[in-house]
Amino acid sequence: MLSRKAEDYLEAILDITEQKGYTRIRDIASALAIKPPSVVEMVKRLNDIGLVEYRKYDGVRLTPKGKEIAGVVKERHDTVRSFLEIIKVSKKIADKDACIIEHELEPETIEQLKKFVRFVKTAPDYPQWLEHFETFCKTGVHPCEVEKREAKGHRFFC
Ligand code: FE2
Repeated sequence: MLSRKAEDYLEAILDITEQKGYTRIRDIASALAIKPPSVVEMVKRLNDIGLVEYRKYDGVRLTPKGKEIAGVVKERHDTVRSFLEIIKVSKKIADKDACIIEHELEPETIEQLKKFVRFVKTAPDYPQWLEHFETFCKTGVHPCEVEKREAKGHRFFC
């Protein structure tokens, strides 16, 4: 299994390559807030285990194997980020925390999160329970509780 750090590098290289079409050492250094000499060291290591190709004046490229791993990490990132956004974590924090959580979760948890995100996103209308959750976040009260009180014992569905 790859270290969390190595996964971060592969993910960053994939992101940068998708945005710019190529990746240089300084791009990785600024994306991960790491000094260029340390980036070179890590990239050389990734080169040695066949996950990237690094040529001094030509930048860094993912090998097919590196790309595959980066894709998995990115998918985990996107899943966790989407989940956090669904539960109303702000975009910036969701993105930051996704990068921490993405390395730690069991595949089963990721799979269920993925299903949950897909379930919410493919709902034909904005889900009512999610609207209720928003209200709950703002007021601390479940809207169904209010409705229940107002219904005064009448049956209702929430
Ligand atoms: Fe990430």
